[in-house]
Amino acid sequence: MKIKAPRGTKDILPEEARRWQYAEARFRDVCHRYGYGEIRVPTFESTDLFERGVGDSTDIVRKEMYTFEDKGGRSMTLRPEGTAGVVRAYVEQGMNSLPSPVRLFYDLNMFRYEKMQKGRYREFAQFGCEIFGSDSALADAEILSLLDTFFTSVGLRERRLELGSIGCPACRPRFLEALRAYYEPKLDRVCEDCRDRFEKNPLRMLDCKQPQCQEDAERAPSQIDFLCDECEAHFALVRQALDTLGIDYHINPRMVRGLDYYTRTVFEFVSTHVGSQGALCGGGRYDGLVEELGGGQVPAIGFAMGVERLLLEMEAQHVQPDLTFDPDLFIVSFPDTTVAALHLRQNLIRDGFIVETDVMDRSFRAQMKAADRANARYLLVLGADELKKSKATLRRMDTGEETELQLSDLSQTLRSE
Ligand code: HAM
Repeated sequence: MKIKAPRGTKDILPEEARRWQYAEARFRDVCHRYGYGEIRVPTFESTDLFERGVGDSTDIVRKEMYTFEDKGGRSMTLRPEGTAGVVRAYVEQGMNSLPSPVRLFYDLNMFRYEKMQKGRYREFAQFGCEIFGSDSALADAEILSLLDTFFTSVGLRERRLELGSIGCPACRPRFLEALRAYYEPKLDRVCEDCRDRFEKNPLRMLDCKQPQCQEDAERAPSQIDFLCDECEAHFALVRQALDTLGIDYHINPRMVRGLDYYTRTVFEFVSTHVGSQGALCGGGRYDGLVEELGGGQVPAIGFAMGVERLLLEMEAQHVQPDLTFDPDLFIVSFPDTTVAALHLRQNLIRDGFIVETDVMDRSFRAQMKAADRANARYLLVLGADELKKSKATLRRMDTGEETELQLSDLSQTLRSE
């Protein structure tokens, strides 16, 4: 029986891997220009971290975690998201003693046991950024500016920023009260999960995927109407900064994020391209999480973007970066010159060129065909005679133009083209 890749995972073959590398290079470049340094955290962490960090009433923790007992009997979980691990590292590595703000980015794979559909996988990658130590709306604006710059740099035009604020521990109780009052008379028709959510965390009812519950959620009170003066002022400053930066946004008064740690600003970038589904990226402020994980009062904000979704979206919007790695030169050899061809190729590669040669003992004709297929810019036939004289003919494949040269001049000639 053939073994298949697990459901919800995928193989990334070289052609697609180049598109990944392109997006990764762009993301890293933008992060570096905004002053973010890379952090790599473990693939698995103590299960407690996610239960406390992400929240034990969220779908992620209740239904989607890959949790296992290790051989020492400890409960471990493959990371379903990056923020909890980054905050754990921030606290554990004493980064709160560094000058603020601390700016970190990551490019890591995540694991969630979810139903497979387009753009939804069980192993997927996220690009993410987190900025620690600033409660100013300027940090929110910086994060959104970085994202906007990134999307522009990869050419993704059809996008919309949805922005909301979900208040803070001071204004949330009033909102929760209103939410409970709204849902109380509807409890007999909401789903079983929602009845449970009503007890544990009614905010999560707003996120239910059941059609009837979604309908109720659309008419539920909105957090934005219950903001305290400080949260209201903070939200106004974020919007003001975005206006000045020229970043368009739509206020979404009912934005619900699937994680419990958020305070104040929440946002998502969604695609406006027809047929696209799901958020490209999501994030927000989490001013209480560092403290929750034992690190003192450190405000923070960040986002994460689904890389698979980003790439699907780039394809849908016909963004076609130049990703070719066509050879500069193809060296055709004969049985008595194959190793010499390999040597010449090694030297040229070390000089910075992309060079291909035969490693399958193919016939002359088969090698010529391979050179054509490889779309090589130049062709050089290396026979025993050429080798003896250290001279050969270089042919430009598109024009057929031929130049005789010393093999020692090859690098220089290729470079001058
Ligand atoms: P999230 O909204 O759960 O937030 O995920 C962020 C992004 O990851 C989503 O917008 C989506 O593009 C992608 N994503 C999520 N689940 C999947 C999946 N199963 N398959 C493919 N892509 C997926 C977070 O994870 C937060 N940690 C973001 C954050 C960082 N907030 C503050 N800092």
